[in-house]
Amino acid sequence: MSDQRPILTTRQGHPVRDNQNTRTVGERGPATLENYQFIEKITHFDRERIPERVVHARGAGAHGWFEAYGKIGDEPASKYTRARVLNETGVRTPMFVRFSTVAGAKESPETERDPRGFAVKFKTVDGNWDLVGNNLKVFFIRDAIKFPDMIHAFKPDPVTNRQEAWRFFDFVAQHPESIHMVTWLKSPWGIPANYREMEGSGVNTYKLVNDQGEAVLCKFHWIPKQGVRNLTSSQASEIQGKDVGHATRDLYDNIKAGNFPEWEFAVQIMPDGPNDHLSFDPLDDTKLWPVDQFPLRPCGRMVLDRVPDNFFAEVEQSAFGTGVLVDGIDFSDDKMLQGRTLSYSDTQRYRVGPNYLQLPINAPQPGVKVYSNQRDGQMTYMVDGTGPNKHINYEPSTLAEGLREAPKPAKEYHQRVEGRLGRYQTSRTEDDYTQAGERYRSFQDWEREDLIANLVADMKQCPEPIQLRMVWHFWHADEDYGRRVAEGAGIDLEKAKALPPLPGRAAPGKRLQTETYSDGSQAQRVAAE
Ligand code: HEM
Repeated sequence: MSDQRPILTTRQGHPVRDNQNTRTVGERGPATLENYQFIEKITHFDRERIPERVVHARGAGAHGWFEAYGKIGDEPASKYTRARVLNETGVRTPMFVRFSTVAGAKESPETERDPRGFAVKFKTVDGNWDLVGNNLKVFFIRDAIKFPDMIHAFKPDPVTNRQEAWRFFDFVAQHPESIHMVTWLKSPWGIPANYREMEGSGVNTYKLVNDQGEAVLCKFHWIPKQGVRNLTSSQASEIQGKDVGHATRDLYDNIKAGNFPEWEFAVQIMPDGPNDHLSFDPLDDTKLWPVDQFPLRPCGRMVLDRVPDNFFAEVEQSAFGTGVLVDGIDFSDDKMLQGRTLSYSDTQRYRVGPNYLQLPINAPQPGVKVYSNQRDGQMTYMVDGTGPNKHINYEPSTLAEGLREAPKPAKEYHQRVEGRLGRYQTSRTEDDYTQAGERYRSFQDWEREDLIANLVADMKQCPEPIQLRMVWHFWHADEDYGRRVAEGAGIDLEKAKALPPLPGRAAPGKRLQTETYSDGSQAQRVAAE
C-alpha cells in the first residue's frame, strides 16, 4: 500500500530526507554549521515558549456558539441595548472560551483554591466582544491600582518561590473590601469541581446603550445548565494526587463525547447614576447586586461543542480584553474595569506580540473585514485591507481614496462627567462586612465547616498581628464567624475585638469622612485620618 502521509519539510518548504541523524564530517566527526535543517529545528525549538500569562496562566479552551433570545428577561432586548448580538435571534455567533485558575503557573494543578477565569470571546457580525470574567461574582479589590500589590502577595514569595498563607492574609488584612471574596474563596466555592459545573460573571459593571442613546448599568452572568458543584479541600487533594489536569480532561472528554456544556446568559440592570439609595456603590466590584432587587434576566445561551486542534495556537495565544466591546455595550466608571482595560491589550502586545490580533484565534470572524492603517511590527502576517490604493495608509486623503470613518449612530450616548480631580475610595460607608456576613450565614453547614477549617489552617501559618486583624474582620462580618476562626486557631478573640479601625479607614459601618474644599464644595469618600 502506498504511503499517503504528507512529506516532512522545513519551514522553507524543503523536503527533509533524514530527520534522525545530524550531518557530521565522517561517522564520528564534528557537526557542521551550515546544516540549515538542524539549525532551523533547534533554534525554533529554543523559542517555543512565550511568556506565560502574568495571571491566569493555567487554562483550557473550547469553541462554541451563542444564541440570543432577543429579549432581556420579559422585555425586548432593544429596550436596553442596540447590540446586534443580543437582539438578533436565529443567529449562532461563534465563540471561543478560556477557563483558567489565577495564581498558579502554566502547568499547576487545576484543583487549586483560586477563582476560576471565565473569559469569553463573542465573534459577532459587528466585530469581537470579549467578556473577561470569573466564576465568583465579586472580587478582592475595587481599585485597579491595587492589582499588582494583590497579585504579588498571592503569587509565590520572591525568596522561597512558595505561595505563603501569611503573605496572602497580610494583604487581605489591610483590605477589608476583600473579606467578602475571601469568604467565598475559602469555602468550597473556591474549588469548583471542574470548568463545566461552575458559574461565570463579568464581575465588573458595564453599561447597555439603546438606539435612543440611553444607558443603564448592568452586570453579566453565566448560569450553567449542568448545575454548580464544588469540592472540599480533602476531595480536591484526592483528585490532585491522581491528576493535575482533571478540569481540562473533564471539559475535553465531555465535548468529545457530545455532552456539550451549556450556560444561560443573564444580565442584571439598574438605572445609570450614583443610585444613592443603595448601601453599596454599584461601581464597587466587591459587592453583589442582590438578585431580589436586581433579578437575573435571561438573554441568551452558549454551547461549547468543539475542542481546540492545537493548545498553543488557540489557547495559549488567545487574548481577551475588557476593552473589546461592540456598539450597544459600553464601559461604566468602575475603576477596576477602566484599569483592566489598559492592562489586557498592553500585556498581550508584550506576551504574544504587537500583531496578536492578526492571529486567527483573536481576529474577528471571517465575515468581518478589518480595514485599518496600523502597520508593521514583529510578525506582521498581512496588510489589513486598504482599498485599491495601497499607498494610502493614512486618513483622510485628498484623493478620496483609502479608508473613511464609519457613519455615526443617530443618537450617541454622551455621559456627562464633572468632578474634582483626586483620589477617592469607591465606597460610601466603610461597610465591607454586611455582604460577607450574609454569605457566611447563607452557606450550608458543610460549606461553613470547610470554610472555618480552611481559615483555621491558614491562620496557624500567620504571625499574630495578621491573625488578630483577620479575626477582627471576620468578627465584624459575623460574630460567630470571628469566634469560630479564633477558637479553632487559638487566637485571643478579646484582643482581636479591641483593635482600632485600620489606618486610613473609617470604623466599620461608618460613613467615610467628608472633605470640604476652599470653594465650599465637598467630597465624600476620602479616607479617614
Ligand atoms: C485591575 C484589575 C486587574 C488587572 C490589572 C488584570 C490584569 C490581567 C492580566 C495582565 C491578565 C493576563 C492577560 C493575558 O496575558 O492575556 C489577566 C488575565 C485574566 N484576568 Fe485579569 N486583571 C484584573 C482583574 C480581573 C478581574 C476583576 C477579573 C474577573 C472578572 C479578571 C479576569 C481575568 C481572566 C479570566 C483572565 C484570563 C484571560 C484568558 O483566559 O486569557 N481579572 N488579567
